[in-house]
Amino acid sequence: MKTMLSGIKPTGRLTLGNYIGAIGEFIKYQDEYDMYIFIANEHAITVPIEAKELRKNTKDLIALYLAAGLDPEKVTLFMQTDVPAHAKLGWIMTCLSGYGELQRMTQFKDKMAKQETGITAGLYAYPALMAADILLYDPDYVPVGVDQSQHVELTRDLAERFNHRYSDTFKLPQPLVTKVGAKIYDLQNPTKKMSKSETNPKGVIDLLDDPAVARNKIKAAVTDSLGVVRFDPENQPGVSNLLTILSALTSEDIDSIVARYEGKGYGELKKEVGDVVYDFLTNLQARYKEIIDSGVIYDVLKDGASKANQIAEKKVRKVYKKVGFTI
Ligand code: TYM
Repeated sequence: MKTMLSGIKPTGRLTLGNYIGAIGEFIKYQDEYDMYIFIANEHAITVPIEAKELRKNTKDLIALYLAAGLDPEKVTLFMQTDVPAHAKLGWIMTCLSGYGELQRMTQFKDKMAKQETGITAGLYAYPALMAADILLYDPDYVPVGVDQSQHVELTRDLAERFNHRYSDTFKLPQPLVTKVGAKIYDLQNPTKKMSKSETNPKGVIDLLDDPAVARNKIKAAVTDSLGVVRFDPENQPGVSNLLTILSALTSEDIDSIVARYEGKGYGELKKEVGDVVYDFLTNLQARYKEIIDSGVIYDVLKDGASKANQIAEKKVRKVYKKVGFTI
């Protein structure tokens, strides 16, 4: 069985983009792969966050993973801080990364361009920690949205560098970017990624949004004046984004949706997408509430950490020997 690993940062409330680009994909893969999914809480403090908020986001994230259908019998689900090997290998990967190499990461460059203050060294170095997260488990694949694929490429470079400098230790992982929904865009600004850090809530569908509010956000989504339902991300980014959302949530091909909309307008499309999103959130939130109330997340995390620690610690011991940390 091939191995797969991925993670999500508990930095804000999860968006529909995270679901379509990541969680929904994990669920599709869980029967076919040996999967490791973790909460990247060490990554969450690369930007300022209150302890109370981090705690709530973390709990919500685990409950949402389970509510969305991730099965702890099939997937090893754990919290990064429960497995100290991540921080240990993270430091080694930081020391293996070039200063300029990390500076070239587009996500970091974008954040630098936007924010003049509050940029931490952690934010700069986090792709090295991400490489450690991945390499500890020798996964074949890392399913991520487009915004993270550059970091998986860096991971491959670092693995190769380590293997070359010491000896063969890490498997080179492949990024796995979904075909539909690799990037869901902001509803108000459809050339920008739908992001949990966006301050205008109208463009972002939060997985814990009131479903009626979410439906209204779809109704108010920015489109264009062409008036024809077509999948053309370049010229019709807003409409194309709605088509992507609909296709991802219903599994209907984009071509088939477009064919159904011949001669019909944006109002009808928005109504259908709004209803699908409404039903999706209603079901997801009902399961989320049951999970939060049951307290099951603590047992799931305990089991996940125990399995992850066995594998990750073994890898770190091997690395420590090669680096010269054991005497
Ligand atoms: P994060 O928490 O920003 O995002 C988690 C996952 O969601 C995807 N994603 C999206 N996909 C489609 N459309 C969107 N609008 C959208 N927004 C986010 C991201 O691509 C990602 O797959 N550094 C990572 C977390 C991480 C990680 C790892 C991932 C840490 N270590 C190891 C994989 C393997 C991050 O910040 O993702």
